[in-house]
Amino acid sequence: MQIIILENAAQVAECAADWVQALIEKKPNAVLGLATGSTPISLYHKLVSRYQDGLISFANVNTFNLDEYYDIEESNPQSYRYFMRKYLFDHVNIKLKNTFLPTCKSGQNPRVQGVMFEDKIKQLNGIDLQILGIGANGHIGFNEPTSSLASRTRIKTLTKQTLTDNSRLFNQNERQPNMAMTMGIGTIMDARYVLLMATGKNKAEAVNQMITGPLSANCPASVLQQHENAVILLDREAANALEDKGYFL
Ligand code: PGA
Repeated sequence: MQIIILENAAQVAECAADWVQALIEKKPNAVLGLATGSTPISLYHKLVSRYQDGLISFANVNTFNLDEYYDIEESNPQSYRYFMRKYLFDHVNIKLKNTFLPTCKSGQNPRVQGVMFEDKIKQLNGIDLQILGIGANGHIGFNEPTSSLASRTRIKTLTKQTLTDNSRLFNQNERQPNMAMTMGIGTIMDARYVLLMATGKNKAEAVNQMITGPLSANCPASVLQQHENAVILLDREAANALEDKGYFL
């Protein structure tokens, strides 16, 4: 694991954007793994502005998102498809047909949907760079604590903590889904590079567990200790609980 501690969230986003830009410069038809949530929004803002400045082109890029709520319409503002369009896809020259999310509607078989998503990743020769956030409970994607470290794309029930953490994003009259399709931990581990972004004090404990704790399904992100090319971008607050912090500075 390469641990990079930066001053603030803006620097984390800038550094993540540098990684994405460098990849696409080297490989214009790169396959990107994308994440939703509050943390990567500032990364997407930077990518949009670099696109507008002519520094980066998504014309031949394919993307796979980590997760999507179960049985949600694309037009629902709470769907991750909607999120991706709002923050990235509708503002750059990516072709929507090259953007994939693990979806499953009521009446569809989640197992079949999961296998089809995995097959599509394989067909495009795998993910070059997977962007990740981390949940306060150590989840990556919606792989909640106790998820199998070898899991593939499948349906998961969200934990109480994740539902509580995400409830801030829902209005009172909006239904908060409690199930989602998510790339598995094994799927994430197959990415050639993994770039995990964590900012804010709410993440400090999970970050410490991920980096210095035991490899354990109780902290799914700890599996990245075994990834060959995992880069962890932290702001000071997220790095604050790290044991032996001085070592990483
Ligand atoms: P957040 O979510 O960026 O909204 O904190 C991260 C995650 O749950 O993976």
